[in-house]
Amino acid sequence: MAQKTSCDIGPVVLLGPPGAGKGTQSKRIMEHYLIPQVSTGDILRYNVAQGTELGMAAKAVMARGELVSDDLVCEMVKKRLCNPDCRRGYILDGFPRTAAQAGWLDALLDDKLFDNSRPTRAWPIVMRLDVDYNQLLLRITGRRSCPTCGRIYNVHFQPPRVEGICDLEGSRLVTRNDDRREVIQPRLAAYEEQTRPVADYYQRTGRLVSVDGDRPADEVTAQIFRILEDHHA
Ligand code: AP5
Repeated sequence: MAQKTSCDIGPVVLLGPPGAGKGTQSKRIMEHYLIPQVSTGDILRYNVAQGTELGMAAKAVMARGELVSDDLVCEMVKKRLCNPDCRRGYILDGFPRTAAQAGWLDALLDDKLFDNSRPTRAWPIVMRLDVDYNQLLLRITGRRSCPTCGRIYNVHFQPPRVEGICDLEGSRLVTRNDDRREVIQPRLAAYEEQTRPVADYYQRTGRLVSVDGDRPADEVTAQIFRILEDHHA
């Protein structure tokens, strides 16, 4: 993989269904371009684990595979983007996920909602990871992650060196609560009904770039880096 770079790449939005590889690729973009990953799923899971007010409001909704309310998620994202580490750019992983969230993000970046503590205002480059349905099922059911460092593995495609153990931390890998079979269908349905229109919206406004997410992870990463380099050339 190419050397790390610190050029400003502004906001990046990664869209795609559950299991498409958004988290995997976000971490690689983060390491390469030295900008933070803003994963709404990770922030929500952290809040659930900590038992915060937000976590308590989100817990049951997430366990059913449904989307958390726009108000709660947008407020959470706004707070996160105000952090100084977002000034050079950031990767939105799992956001926006509804038409209302996409409209809210446009308004935010158009400076209607932000004050002078705002992060970079450049318009995001929006990439959608396209992945075949059966491949998605394999990826979701095979996913394991490290509770200490968050690294993502897959028993079929990216297994750890020692079964069930994180290569980096030595922690025992865990399965996400919403990767249970009965929750997968509602998550995929929520994507089709509520998030696909978001991609259509970006497509209509000429801002969507499709990425072949069916390829092996390294090839997907190479394609994403090429798109980002071209976009900022
Ligand atoms: P979130 O955490 O965002 O989950 P998701 O969108 O369902 O996506 P996943 O994390 O399942 O998949 P991913 O695309 O990141 O894939 P990954 O890289 O892990 O959201 C969870 C819940 O939070 C939602 O259901 C909702 O309730 C709530 N929520 C979050 N954001 C919200 C919002 N904006 N509004 C409202 N509610 C919100 O990869 C999957 C597996 O495949 C891994 O095992 C990986 O190793 C493997 N893999 C990855 N790439 C490849 C490849 N190229 N080849 C082979 N295997 C691969």
